[in-house]
Amino acid sequence: MNINILISEKVNQAMLAVGAPAHCKAQVRQSVNTKFGDYQVNGLMAAAKQLGVPSNQLAKKVISMLNLDGIARSVDIAGPGFINIVLDSQWLATQIAIALASPRLGILPYSPQTIVVDYSSPNVAKEMHVGHLRSTIIGDASARILEFLGHNVIRANHIGDWGTHFGMLIAYLEKVEYGGESEIKLSSLDNFYRKAKNNFDRDPDFAQKARNYVVKLQSGDSYCLQMWRKLVNITIVQNQKIYDRLNITLSQDNVMGESMYNNMLPGIVADLKAKGLAVEKAGATLVFLNECKNKEGKPMGVIIQKTDGAYLYTTTDIACAKYRYETLKADRIIYYIDSRQHQHLLQVWTIVRKAGYIPETVLLEHHMFGMILGQNRKPFKTREGVTIKLNDLLDEALKRARSLILSKHINVDDINIVELERLAQVISIGAVKYAELSKNRTSNYIFNWDEMLSFDGNTAPYIQYAYTRIRSIFKRSALNEQLFTGHISLEDEQEHLLAVRLLQYQETIAIVARDGTPHVLCAYLYNLAVLFSSFYENYPILNANSDKQRQSRLQLALLTSRTLQQGLNLLGIDTVERM
Ligand code: ARG
Repeated sequence: MNINILISEKVNQAMLAVGAPAHCKAQVRQSVNTKFGDYQVNGLMAAAKQLGVPSNQLAKKVISMLNLDGIARSVDIAGPGFINIVLDSQWLATQIAIALASPRLGILPYSPQTIVVDYSSPNVAKEMHVGHLRSTIIGDASARILEFLGHNVIRANHIGDWGTHFGMLIAYLEKVEYGGESEIKLSSLDNFYRKAKNNFDRDPDFAQKARNYVVKLQSGDSYCLQMWRKLVNITIVQNQKIYDRLNITLSQDNVMGESMYNNMLPGIVADLKAKGLAVEKAGATLVFLNECKNKEGKPMGVIIQKTDGAYLYTTTDIACAKYRYETLKADRIIYYIDSRQHQHLLQVWTIVRKAGYIPETVLLEHHMFGMILGQNRKPFKTREGVTIKLNDLLDEALKRARSLILSKHINVDDINIVELERLAQVISIGAVKYAELSKNRTSNYIFNWDEMLSFDGNTAPYIQYAYTRIRSIFKRSALNEQLFTGHISLEDEQEHLLAVRLLQYQETIAIVARDGTPHVLCAYLYNLAVLFSSFYENYPILNANSDKQRQSRLQLALLTSRTLQQGLNLLGIDTVERM
């Protein structure tokens, strides 16, 4: 049930019926303060202004035409022309029962779109580091949510597997292999990259060989391709281990690296030239964009082929966008890339639109994000100033989660080592992911171990713990959850509020699916957990006054636990049955 849409439709109808212009919308919002009801209508002042009538008068007319029979308990005008709506408890109870009866908690699937989600996308022959955390975690939550809503989601891991540096990497791989070191692991690949670079900078013969290999690789030489493949495969296998560890839904099948578009590039450059969009200048090929201005205020020249014939990151992304529309049949393409690449994407999109590769109806969205900072507000690094590897970060999280479990917060008397390890894993991964997901992605944020592993506040452990508390009610009741079928009655204020909050799950997910803002779902789950725990403190559940009341409250508790579990799941975070 999407209550917001339901009320919006009804109010919009009433507004039209009293002559409000069609473009004036109801602007229905969840009330932040209960004294304004459960929902409020904010759009009447603007409509009244358009009509040139007093807003209070318009509000009265709208209410007279507004039919919320059986849905709302009261509909009142407040202030200059707001409408406050309190939902009907009986109606809420029915909706709760419907949600409880469905494994999807009452959330109906959307009409499916094909949505390409470009995320994670690390570079080959480099170990994944903390800079890839945001794209990987936020992109994955977004993919899960869109999929849950019924869309055909295509996960695209646009790995950086092409470029001139492969000449040097191949030359060095050859050197290593001759030296008898047959297998290189990615854990040493960072080292590998550094050593390759070192050789390239210091040894002219090596550098010459590397340059030759670049040319050979680009012209499809089989030896170079084979060496290149080896480097790519090692990276993919190593990255997959991190994805699995982090409970990220990417698989090796989702790898669609830059190299995949190589054979499209000459055709694209030729086509852009033929369309008069690209021009040659001093041997290079550029597209001049009036839409993007350079520092002198002149149309920006975007290079798509260099004088030496090499193509660029932009050229690849043009081909890639075209492929996603033409071949993958995308209705919507979302990029989870940091904000520094926004300009790059705008250039790519302007070009693909102008060239007619992608129609305006297909959405291109950059769900950008800021940086992760250390306590010193500089990019998050080790004390020695080294970029933090993801594996090391997760090891540290695991260590901290273990000691958290062993500290006073959790009862470990009867916990065995297997359970302890499982718990530490769920808590550590949950904490790291939730810390990412709960922040508004557009801003930078400061990485803070203590905060993310706290049982207080908007954290994963808080919500995971709230979940186990509800589970323990059921365990103690020894009742079969399937049999909670009695009538739900929402007599008290807190029961009413909890029910409304539970039923706002769908509209919350709808926002996240539209905007790619998992922090909205985090805030919702946190708020739901807080609301439930205050309810639980004030209203006995197992010791309720009557069997009827107990049954009713147990059902509210059950839907709360399911919502928390499913909500966390959509964020890629697991729950446990006890802590
Ligand atoms: N490999 C790039 C990087 O590490 C990110 C690629 C993002 N996706 C894209 N289609 N450009 O910065």
